[in-house]
Amino acid sequence: MEKRELIYEGKAKKLFTTDDANLLISEFKDDLTAFNGEKKSSEAGKGALNNKISTELFKLLAEDGIPTHFVKMLDDNHMLHKRTDVILIEVIVRNIATGSLSKNLGIKDGTVLPFTLVEFDYKNDALGDPKLNDQHALILGLVKYQDELDKLRRMAREINDILKPYFAAKGLNLVDFKLEFGKDSSGNIILIDEISPDNCRFWDMQSGEKMDKDRFRQGLGGLKMAYEEVLNRILSK
Ligand SMILES: Nc1ncnc2c1ncn2[C@@H]1O[C@H](COP(=O)(O)OP(=O)(O)OP(=O)(O)O)[C@@H](O)[C@H]1O
Ligand SMILES: [Mg+2]
Repeated sequence: MEKRELIYEGKAKKLFTTDDANLLISEFKDDLTAFNGEKKSSEAGKGALNNKISTELFKLLAEDGIPTHFVKMLDDNHMLHKRTDVILIEVIVRNIATGSLSKNLGIKDGTVLPFTLVEFDYKNDALGDPKLNDQHALILGLVKYQDELDKLRRMAREINDILKPYFAAKGLNLVDFKLEFGKDSSGNIILIDEISPDNCRFWDMQSGEKMDKDRFRQGLGGLKMAYEEVLNRILSK
């Protein structure tokens, strides 16, 4: 499958059409951005690592019955996937408080939450991805019905129930992560985009070391080594 027309260039990926109207190709870029694009950099090999990590995680989730857009990895930086109408809601799943949750609500960084928190952000860079409640999402028309919001929450919890123990077995704490969903050509809600250390937080269970994009956000260095380590642990049986 060949790339045809560039239809979107985001901060982390480029999206291309293909000969099949129902399929797109994502090109994973080496660019890094944080704080809504204010901090920028690039790390050679980062895009390929995210493509490989996402590929493995989409395969794992599909085996466990989660519908995803994944079709196949084409090469180091390219993934073939279904085309969807993106639901402009970022679904955030949190097991441990850190980042904006700690800052906004004053919950001490590293506090294990009494239950898994699922939150919605409006996927809108111009507005700085503000928090949404269900009524906001319905008023904005991001989905039509309440049961679609319930479904997003349910799918996010199911995904967490698969990924959290999977990473725990590999010595990584899945602290939190961001998911995106879209509607496929039949109108089914499926998991899209990527699942990578760019939008998950992983803390090493032994050392507590951050193994994700916080290394870039916080200027800790060693980003590529951390992403490589995440991939190696995924590939290790
Ligand atoms: N299956 C899909 N169908 C249609 N669009 C998709 C699909 N998967 C991902 N996308 C979209 O492709 C784009 C990928 O771009 P990228 O990951 O660079 O994100 P972005 O737009 O810069 O923003 P963000 O910071 O919110 O991730 C996103 O807008 C994402 O919603
Ligand atoms: Mg993105």
